[in-house]
Amino acid sequence: MMEMITEAREMQATSEKLRQQGKRIGFVPTMGALHQGHLSLIKRARRENDVVIVSIFVNPIQFGEGEDYEEYPRDLEADSKLVREAGVDAIFAPAAREMYPIKHITIVSVEGLSKRLCGASRSGHFRGVTTVVAKLFNITRPHTAYFGQKDYQQAQIIRRMVSDLSLDLKIEICPIVRERDGLAMSSRNRYLSVKERQAALVLFNALQKAKSMLQSGEVEAERIKEEIVSLIEREPLVTIDYVEVVNAESLEPGDEIEKETLVALAVRIGKTRLIDNLLYEPGEVL
Ligand code: PAJ
Repeated sequence: MMEMITEAREMQATSEKLRQQGKRIGFVPTMGALHQGHLSLIKRARRENDVVIVSIFVNPIQFGEGEDYEEYPRDLEADSKLVREAGVDAIFAPAAREMYPIKHITIVSVEGLSKRLCGASRSGHFRGVTTVVAKLFNITRPHTAYFGQKDYQQAQIIRRMVSDLSLDLKIEICPIVRERDGLAMSSRNRYLSVKERQAALVLFNALQKAKSMLQSGEVEAERIKEEIVSLIEREPLVTIDYVEVVNAESLEPGDEIEKETLVALAVRIGKTRLIDNLLYEPGEVL
């Protein structure tokens, strides 16, 4: 039996009871409009825990002005069905006024890391994420929480928050799930027209190019960046937000690729913003 919980107090009490029964709680936070990427996290949580909680909450404070908070796809009915079939024990789906009953004046902010990559063009985004995720951790009280590499920077920031604040849970990061042609799954892919969907393939193609350069021994980050930029610029429907080749831990650029490296992209196609990335460990055979 899957429970649908909308109140924070009730969710907390439920989790507390489960903990007292000695159950291991796995938690997957989402904004809904669920797809196979989300389901891969849920399946992993299912394998590794006694109980799985999924939250569905479109978090207003992580959307900037002019971003897609209003348009963001919401379909709790379809989501509940998917989640039930995946064997989830509880959905936590609060209303915005349940999470923010009064204007919150407390913010969790991971400095530095939150300014890089997506943080540069979405100011305030990551502190909205860390604030809500900290609340969700306190409400669902998991032993382990699961995040996708699709949002690599988000996962790194949350890991750092957990470590800096001595939060008592483990963070696991799961691989990117892609459509058959390589496009990374995303709730925002539904915004794309047929032509835009075709153009969106350039992200995956650019990462494939980066991968083959890395495999054939390219060590200069700048050369990889240039190659990717020129590949993307050939696609008229796509404009670049950023192309970065950075240290996978600090998210800071370095000249030469020696340590674990992240190739990260963000583009706009029409009014849709899409991201994708590739992790590369030197010496690793991809
Ligand atoms: P959302 O975009 O719904 O994503 C929820 C989780 O699913 C994130 O950890 C994300 O990285 C993961 N995910 C999304 N697409 C994926 C894919 N193609 N492959 C693997 N994992 C994928 O990220 C958020 O929501 C929010 O910021 C949230 C953490 C819930 C806070 O509001």
